[in-house]
Amino acid sequence: MSKSSTIPAVRGFRDVLPEECAHWQRLEAAARDLFARYGFGEIRLPILERTELFARAVGETTDIVEKEMFSFRDRDKEETAVALRPEATASVVRAYLESGLVHRDRQARLFYAGPMFRRERPQRGRYRQFYQIGAEVLGRDDALADAELLVWLVRYFDQVGARGTRIELNSLGDAACRPAYRERLRQFGLAHLDALCGDCHRRLQRNPLRLLDCKVADCRAVIERAPVMRDSLCAACTAHFDEVRLLLDQERVPYVLNLRLVRGLDYYCRTAFEIVAEGEGLGAQNAIGGGGRYDGLVAMLGGPEVAGVGFALGLDRVAMATPAAKDAAPGPAALVLPLEPRAVAPALRLATQLRDEGLVVAVEPAGRSLKALLGVANRRRARLAVILGPDELAAGRATVRDLASSADRRQALDLGAPGAELARWVRAEVGAS
Ligand code: HAM
Repeated sequence: MSKSSTIPAVRGFRDVLPEECAHWQRLEAAARDLFARYGFGEIRLPILERTELFARAVGETTDIVEKEMFSFRDRDKEETAVALRPEATASVVRAYLESGLVHRDRQARLFYAGPMFRRERPQRGRYRQFYQIGAEVLGRDDALADAELLVWLVRYFDQVGARGTRIELNSLGDAACRPAYRERLRQFGLAHLDALCGDCHRRLQRNPLRLLDCKVADCRAVIERAPVMRDSLCAACTAHFDEVRLLLDQERVPYVLNLRLVRGLDYYCRTAFEIVAEGEGLGAQNAIGGGGRYDGLVAMLGGPEVAGVGFALGLDRVAMATPAAKDAAPGPAALVLPLEPRAVAPALRLATQLRDEGLVVAVEPAGRSLKALLGVANRRRARLAVILGPDELAAGRATVRDLASSADRRQALDLGAPGAELARWVRAEVGAS
């Protein structure tokens, strides 16, 4: 038989192994707990959506829609264009409209957790499949809704021990005041055309706000001097932003104003924010979350005029910015070691019984020497080894070895209905409740 080669994962896609998963589960559990206290219910959304949903919601001129979506034609009759979701806000709004939630109760507070897909250039902290935990509040246009989400975030970072996080805040104006700002920015760009890159020339034509997003150093130097939205905000947007800030100050939520923050998705208006982790380890990919208000999105997706605000955290990055538990996961309470084939069936019955009692138990296959199996038990950091060899089977008693002290105890083992007594004993021995 010819030796086959191994098949690697697709570029930008990765596995999250058990140790890392344990850390992620703690981060998810903390989020769920906090969401419950803030009145959010979970929504589970499809991973595949019509491409059109993101094109319309996120914006045709964004990097996400222009170059980063995993989009393909389905094999149905219509050859529908579908995409792996690059984000979930559009899906939440679609579900809110499609399920009729919008009619039942205008106000909806929903959270989600799951994988998103963007065809970005992979690097540390940037993957093509990454995970988000996000929340959306629909049917609320008041500043209180924005402030509550930011308080949630600060509480969450406190709880999971994410240190050195910084909230950057801006207001992007609304349909009343942004067009004039966009025009000012366009004029500014036209006046500095020579110093701007080719992409920026294109942005200037299609969506001048994206200028503020350019990462090219020469462009950044120009953009530093560009007009900022704040100077063009209308009275209503100014009042909204002032109130958000007042509430944040009252709750002692620290933030910095970043008047050039625009975000990479087009649906935002008014409040926009990003959470940056300042610690080492994340490098350039230090935005661990972002969000803001999207008052026009529900209507843009065919619904009534309903306001919305939300955020998403990048779980991969939050995990990098928070300490993992220092202690390695504990080993099993007991490792059951059948020394010969005849002992396999009693070993399985015993292991099942111990597990039914709530203990963490592993069982090894037969066929190795006691010495080899005890080596396995030590490597797995088991507390007790339950040995079932020929002597034990003959005597109807299992040998239970305490692996810390190497002390042996022999316990009665009824081979007809093994385990109940032994299980109680093992449980007492390992101090499990
Ligand atoms: P976003 O800023 O595009 O916002 O993504 C939120 C977070 O997802 C980012 O801050 C980052 O931590 C993480 N993230 C994004 N791309 C990657 C990647 N390639 N690899 C690893 N992590 C990544 C949104 O997605 C909006 N839907 C947030 C929102 C909800 N706005 C309102 N509601």
